This record gives sequence, C-alpha cells and structure tokens, in this order.
Amino acid sequence: MSSPLHVALVGATGNLSPAILTQLLAAGSGFKVTILARVGSGSKVKAVPPTTSATSTSTASANTVSKTTGTASDSVTIKEVDYASHSSLVQALSSPPVDVVVCTLGWFPGFFETQKALIDASIEAGCVKRFLPSEFGNGANANVRKLPLLFNDKSRTQEYLVETVEKAAATVQKNNNKTDPGSEVLVPFSYTIINTGSFLDWQLELGFMVNLKDHTATLYDGGDVRCSATRMVTIGEAVVRVLHNLDATKDRHVFVHDAAITQNQLIGMAKKIDGNDKEWTTTSMSTADVERNAYKALEEGDFMSATLGFISRACWGQGFGQDFSDKLDNDLLGIPVTSEEEIESMMRDIMAKLL
Ligand SMILES: NC(=O)c1ccc[n+]([C@@H]2O[C@H](COP(=O)([O-])OP(=O)(O)OC[C@H]3O[C@@H](n4cnc5c(N)ncnc54)[C@H](OP(=O)(O)O)[C@@H]3O)[C@@H](O)[C@H]2O)c1
Repeated sequence: MSSPLHVALVGATGNLSPAILTQLLAAGSGFKVTILARVGSGSKVKAVPPTTSATSTSTASANTVSKTTGTASDSVTIKEVDYASHSSLVQALSSPPVDVVVCTLGWFPGFFETQKALIDASIEAGCVKRFLPSEFGNGANANVRKLPLLFNDKSRTQEYLVETVEKAAATVQKNNNKTDPGSEVLVPFSYTIINTGSFLDWQLELGFMVNLKDHTATLYDGGDVRCSATRMVTIGEAVVRVLHNLDATKDRHVFVHDAAITQNQLIGMAKKIDGNDKEWTTTSMSTADVERNAYKALEEGDFMSATLGFISRACWGQGFGQDFSDKLDNDLLGIPVTSEEEIESMMRDIMAKLL
C-alpha cells in the first residue's frame, strides 16, 4: 500500500479552507494533513471532526514548542508558523516531509510576498512536488489579471510559480547528474491553479450575486452575463480530485464549475421558489463604471469598496472570460455539472435559512 499524500493546508481559519479540509478528511486514508496557521490562529481552525485529539506544534521560533490542543482527526496536525520566517516555513514543510501545499490565504497587503515565501520554502524543503496557490476564482483571464489588489497579486503568484518550476526543473536535472545532490531541489516542483469562478452558495448566502433575503440585485451589464459558479463542497472535491490526478493537472490551470449562470436566471429561480409573488427591486450598472469607481475608491484609500468593485467587474464584466463552459475540466476530475434542479434545491435551502 502506498503511503498517504502529505498535504499542507495553508490558511485554514478562513472561509474556503474548511470545505477543502472536510473533503480531504472524507477521502480517507489517502491523505495526511498538516494545517499551517498563522501564529495564534491554531485554535480557530474549523471543520476538524471532534472525535480524536490533534497535535499542535508551533514552528514560529527557533525553539520549537510542542503542545496538544483542541480536537482533530489523527491524520491532522496543526502547526503554527510565522510567514515572515523562512526557517519556520521550511521546518513546517520538511519535517515530516510535505508532498503538496494547498494555499487558501485570503487577500491582505503582502499576499503575494507571503505566497512567494511559501513557494521558496517549498523549494528549500526539497520534498514539495505540487503547489496549489490561493486562486479559486478566474485568474486565468488576461483582463482579470490586469485588475489591481488581489487580482494583481494572484497574477504575480502565477508568474512566480512558472519561473520557479522552470528553475527547479533545471536544478533537478543538474542534480541527477551529480553523485551528491546536496540540499538543493530533490523532487520536481510543479503547480496547479484551480479556477472555480464565483463561490455559488457562499456568495448567495452573503447576498453578493443577488440578494435573496431582500429581493434586490444590482444587475451588472444587463444581468445576462454568464458566470461560472461553484459550491464550496465542489471546490473541496476539486482539490481532492486534482491531488488524485497529479500528472494530468501538472503545471496548468484547471477549470471547474457547478454551472454557468446569469443574475437574471438566479432571480428567475428565486421567483419560482417564492411562487412568483415577491417583487424584486433591481438597479442596473455598467461594470465599466463599476471599475472606474473602484479605481477612485482605491485612490481614496477605500480598499473594501475598491475590492468589491473589482470583484464585480471580474465576475460580471463582458470580456472577462468568466464562463468556463468551453474549457471545463469537470470530466477529467470526475465532477458532474450541476443540474438546474439541483441549483434550485440549493437555493431553496439557502432561502429557507435566510428568510
Ligand atoms: N470566487 C469567489 O467567489 C471567492 C470567494 C471567497 C474567496 N475566494 C478566494 O479563495 C481564497 C481563500 O479566500 P477566503 O475567503 O477563504 O480567505 P479568508 O477567509 O479571508 O482568509 C483565509 C486565511 O488567510 C489568513 N490570513 C488573513 N490575513 C493574513 C495575514 N496578514 N497573514 C497571514 N495570514 C492571513 C487567515 O488567517 P488568520 O485566521 O490567522 O487571520 C485565514 O486563515 C482566496 O484566493 C480568495 O480570493 C474566492
């Protein structure tokens, strides 16, 4: 029996990571998981089954502190790391050796630098063969990549991964010709960038795509732009399937979605569930105007408004390539596209919770 793939899940206190952790644990003995949490965040890690005890280790300082905290599965270890400390990251990734890094950090100033530090530490650890950056959006599109803040940082991360993979391949090749390879890259390093479009259930619960609670929506570019969207559970599954298909997903973008859907279709489904008796209040906006306003907000230092504006432009703007229908990897990963009935059922559940 082959040994389990050792996965380091980075940023596991966030919105997305619990869905990935849940699917990794559900996949059974094929994975051993180490959660890398920012120093002080270990106790907040979610989605770990409350059955057995976990080990939490801080590698934030040179003096490694070991302690047992919280609850987790036998196959999950929580390590607190200092992202600013190269040695802290290398130690966390090399002992015991990590095979795959799955990064789910949320955006903050320094997002690129932190992912770069993780990539550099993965190389130095010498054991990491695959890096999945914190993408989970639509960062393959050239127009999206030109947008600032998280989009630009994600784009820089992609470029750095390509560069690093090339350098690592050259080093591995050189080492293969040596009798003593030393401590340089020992295994070929590679990446997979998972594009999921919008987080369907998460965004609907928050009222982002359309507001199911208040029956309101800002219709972007007319409301008929098709946007790929994926439920959290599917994103978790997609990560697991990528790890089961390392060869086929090597050094490339992977596209997955549950459905490509428009805002007007979502409103139509909500009306059907409501029995058509609820009035919706909609306003229309051009995403070109939204983008202009977002740049203005950025100049004024209003990062939150700017970020939300750029996200709306990336999700609903004409020419931003957010409909993945013609390039899907669902078949490769064995993930079926979701039927309209299933989306309606998901929406019914969300509306029951919200209303
Ligand atoms: N397509 C979509 O609809 C959609 C929606 C949401 C997210 N996403 C993408 O999914 C990925 C994960 O997003 P998320 O919403 O799950 O992220 P998040 O919840 O905002 O944050 C995830 C993690 O980032 C860590 N973090 C935040 N600031 C940090 C800092 N300064 N230094 C170190 N760690 C820090 C947090 O750790 P602490 O607990 O220590 O703060 C947390 O564990 C991102 O790439 C995001 O853009 C896409």
